[in-house]
Amino acid sequence: MRSENGQVWVWNWLPGHDGPVLAGLFELGVEPGGRRLGRFRYAQTYLDHPGRLPIDPVLLPLRPAEFKTTDLEGIFGVLRDAGPDAWGKFLIDRLHGPQDELGYLLHAHGGRTGSIDFSASRDIPPAPPRMLTSFQNLAIAALAVRVIISAKGAGEPIPDDLREVLDAGTSNGGARPKFTVALEGRTWIAKFPAKDDHAALPPMPLQECAALTLAQRCGIRVPEHRLVDVKGVPVLLVERFDRVGAQRLSYASARTVLWSNPEVQRWSYMGSYNNFSRQMGPWIRTPDEDRHELYRRVVFNALTGNQDDHDQNHGLVFDPEIASYRLAPMFDPVDSTVRPVRSLAMAFGDDAGTISIDNLLSNPESFGMDKGACDAALRFIAVQIAGHWRAELRQLGAAEPQIDAMAYRFAIAESFVRANVTSAHRDDISAEELATGPGAP
Ligand SMILES: Nc1ncnc2c1ncn2[C@@H]1O[C@H](COP(=O)(O)OP(=O)(O)O)[C@@H](O)[C@H]1O
Ligand SMILES: [Mg+2]
Repeated sequence: MRSENGQVWVWNWLPGHDGPVLAGLFELGVEPGGRRLGRFRYAQTYLDHPGRLPIDPVLLPLRPAEFKTTDLEGIFGVLRDAGPDAWGKFLIDRLHGPQDELGYLLHAHGGRTGSIDFSASRDIPPAPPRMLTSFQNLAIAALAVRVIISAKGAGEPIPDDLREVLDAGTSNGGARPKFTVALEGRTWIAKFPAKDDHAALPPMPLQECAALTLAQRCGIRVPEHRLVDVKGVPVLLVERFDRVGAQRLSYASARTVLWSNPEVQRWSYMGSYNNFSRQMGPWIRTPDEDRHELYRRVVFNALTGNQDDHDQNHGLVFDPEIASYRLAPMFDPVDSTVRPVRSLAMAFGDDAGTISIDNLLSNPESFGMDKGACDAALRFIAVQIAGHWRAELRQLGAAEPQIDAMAYRFAIAESFVRANVTSAHRDDISAEELATGPGAP
């Protein structure tokens, strides 16, 4: 199916509103040379709205103009962030048949990331999101995941009760099986094991839960998270950081932020943390704290071998209290690689994304820090990881051989601590020292 006339109406949930406001029209066409061209124009009613906010403060400021892009296949990053990725598209294909890009945006019903919504007509607001609402629903979802990803299920009609449940998985990005869930008055993402997960390692939801807790120990902000057993299936619940009660908070992935300066993104520092740190400036009122936090995430990813740290696994979320974006809590901090990784997905130092202590200490100014502060952060994080990774996995019920099989990911942290931190100091390094390490400004 193609969306009507290559256009979708864009809606935005403004702070303090518990429903979407029509924001504008997005049209996707093809240039004579064959490149896709996206055009966006704000609705005059939106420009006149007392609570108006730009949906992208850098590329789409509040003006009665037509904005155009051929980057990211013609779809402004901030609109893409509100659509599905591999998992959601896979479900939509199975539920509604193959779509074009706008069709995917329109069919993602399950609680999209951020505050943007879409509809096919300016007179019909977007439908309320489909969500799972109980543990019973989660159990049906676990069954539905099995049915839909099994080879036998491909091409077969999907029973009606499963269709409804699967609709709740159509919207958040990413490739792993996931659903939006409303539980205990809050909104969560439920992440499931996937077909190709490596059997020798702990289940991915368990690994991810342990990684989030470990990151928290390292002074990194993470969403509330927990591992639950759904009829024998380990499922990770991660609280949505873009929902507060009935309100939806705006979101922009690092990719959107990076492409907000297309020239820089095209020609230099391709997809680097350094560039993300710089480009955050116009989005965040007081970016220094977030830059330090970003540095901690670089170190954490390097010392836990997380190469899945690409530009859609970082993002900014709008905080209505300070009327500014902030770095969103860390999410998806683990990858499924079964070999030691040598570099991160995004560059961060003089030697691009190479994982080494020298490289981690090579570019402090990119993160608004000096070498002493970086060194203190690195020591603190290495000690936390080396000292706790086994216990976090064990506590969640991972089997000992599975834990041993993960040792390769933490080898750099362990050898760094052995070589650089005396045993007397390993327990003493405190969060305070992280903040006020030698040389900290
Ligand atoms: N806690 C969260 N709150 C709101 N949105 C989130 C949260 N975690 C992830 N997301 C959004 O959902 C997308 C997919 O989630 P992610 O955990 O990255 O899944 P995957 O492992 O499949 O990549 C992310 O790219 C982000 O846009
Ligand atoms: Mg992801």
